[in-house]
Amino acid sequence: MAFRIAPSILSADFARLGEEVRAVEAAGADLLHFDVMDNHYVPNLTVGPLVCAALKPLVRLPIDVHLMVKPVDRIIPEFAKAGAAIISFHPEASEHVDRTISLIKEQGCKAGLVLNPATPLSCLDHTLDKLDLVLLMSVNPGFGGQQFMRAVLPKIADVRKRIDRLGREVWLEVDGGVKADNIAEIARAGADTFVAGSAIFGAKDYAATIRDMRARLVI
Ligand code: DX5
Ligand code: ZN
Repeated sequence: MAFRIAPSILSADFARLGEEVRAVEAAGADLLHFDVMDNHYVPNLTVGPLVCAALKPLVRLPIDVHLMVKPVDRIIPEFAKAGAAIISFHPEASEHVDRTISLIKEQGCKAGLVLNPATPLSCLDHTLDKLDLVLLMSVNPGFGGQQFMRAVLPKIADVRKRIDRLGREVWLEVDGGVKADNIAEIARAGADTFVAGSAIFGAKDYAATIRDMRARLVI
């Protein structure tokens, strides 16, 4: 299986964001995870399409935009223009989930649906066949540096089964509390794409941290 590591800029030094994204690209990251919070859907406020557009020319890494905003539809074209490769959203933040998925794809981006720890898998029943990515939250969204919720492990395994039954490539990303010492277990449960904020940006040596994570993914 191909594994992907996606550093979340939420834990980067925002005063040196350009240098930080270049540094994680040079350190071997596969994607750049871009957390967008609106102080409404989640109790925190981060960055929008202007910052995404400013970072885009600095890296070749695909930008993996995680929208924690409500309503979500009107900001999607803005992120597509700003260079997002993947746009994921929470079903609770959309009035019409199928319409939002279509909107992301019409904008030429890959579409992802994000499930909070308490969001049931039934929201994949009529959506999975249109999705490029399922993002399972292993913390409640809003903040970096929280502890991985082990209760999400069986949920990862259930989504893996659903994707395998589908017989088409859908990435299974896990976000929240991912570190070198739990990444192998999360991969064994069925994840292939790993968001890590504090574990990477909180480390002294980004390349050594990403190398360590990747080494543990030989499962
Ligand atoms: C939380 C964000 C995560 C967060 C991950 O709402 O979606 O991407 O930055 O940070 P860590 O890896 O520190 O849990
Ligand atoms: Zn995220």
